[in-house]
Amino acid sequence: MDVKERLPVEELIRKAKEGREHAYAPYSHFKVGAALLTKSGRIFTGCNVENAAYSPGNCAERTAVFKAVSEGEREFAALCIIGGAEAGCLELCPPCGVCRQVLMEFCDPARFPIILATEEGKWEIHTLEELLPLGFGPGNLKK
Ligand code: THU
Repeated sequence: MDVKERLPVEELIRKAKEGREHAYAPYSHFKVGAALLTKSGRIFTGCNVENAAYSPGNCAERTAVFKAVSEGEREFAALCIIGGAEAGCLELCPPCGVCRQVLMEFCDPARFPIILATEEGKWEIHTLEELLPLGFGPGNLKK
């Protein structure tokens, strides 16, 4: 992708790390943070929020998307994700299938960049389409 120069990657990594500080993961002990950049220039952070009943838990990415949408933002420029075991190092943390599908609702899969980072200076970037090929989105219902 050639979007690297135009994206505030280092700032998004810092924000994703800030989000991760709030992760509530007493069951998996795997903490994730996300930073979602809107086209209007705002950054929404998110963290995973687990639950004693397990399935109601929410991923960091969806937390960020839902925060943004609930504040009137629906147009997104990029997402950054950072995660790793509570006691270990940060590792590349690709979004789960449910989060990919939620992103598909709001983002152009061919253009939307997802930054998977471990540290400032250490990251890779993928489009949503690379992570969710032939995804089903709002356009499929209009055909
Ligand atoms: N998790 C996320 O928040 N985002 C991901 O991309 C992968 C997984 C969370 C869900 C759960 O709280 C914990 O990480 C372990 O799966």
